[in-house]
Amino acid sequence: MTILETDRLVIRKFEPDDLAALIAFRTDPRVSKYLGGAKIQNPDSLKERLRFYIDCCDTHGFGMSAAIWKETGELIGACGLQPLENTGETDVGYSFAYPFWGKGLATECAKAWLRLGFTKFELPRIAAVAQTGNSASQNVMKKLGMRFVKNAGHYGLNCAYYLVEREEFLQRFGGENE
Ligand SMILES: CC(C)(COP(=O)(O)OP(=O)(O)OC[C@H]1O[C@@H](n2cnc3c(N)ncnc32)[C@H](O)[C@@H]1OP(=O)(O)O)[C@@H](O)C(=O)NCCC(=O)NCCS
Repeated sequence: MTILETDRLVIRKFEPDDLAALIAFRTDPRVSKYLGGAKIQNPDSLKERLRFYIDCCDTHGFGMSAAIWKETGELIGACGLQPLENTGETDVGYSFAYPFWGKGLATECAKAWLRLGFTKFELPRIAAVAQTGNSASQNVMKKLGMRFVKNAGHYGLNCAYYLVEREEFLQRFGGENE
């Protein structure tokens, strides 16, 4: 089920059959470095996590979703809104297969997700968290107009917590997706 389309990506709900593709890119040590490493990004845990992503979409209408590279149809990453553990807030997350880094894809699809969150789902604000050393992820947040608020513990990691309010975002980027 397609949720969003950007210039270069189709964003669709994850399916159980995506497990192998999810394991393939998330267990790459370059990708898992700031995602809890092999302790979290291993085949058993990812099987559970995939179930969570699918359940989240069924419950909320949004969730971490599959990013499909339009050019080839391959699954190259994950991006989406999801409940931030234990807080009742919503956060945006993203991860991409290493060969696709540096092309602006995380910014492209996270921006589309923020628009959807603020328009369709009428969220008042959206957070993002990244391990403090994860400057690549924080650079994406800054490009999305998110501002650093605090350091906080999330998902068992010391994280930088960023936030953007609906009005701030819509004024800067507009409310229309493709
Ligand atoms: C974080 C991540 C999603 C960024 O995706 P992306 O599509 O490469 O994002 P962008 O192209 O917009 O680049 C964002 C930043 O990534 C960094 N970056 C880009 N290419 C890189 C590369 N080949 N190696 C290391 N860092 C790189 C840069 O800091 C860049 O910021 P800049 O453009 O201001 O210089 C990607 O690096 C990734 O999947 N990392 C592993 C998973 C992860 O940490 N996810 C975030 C969890 S909070």
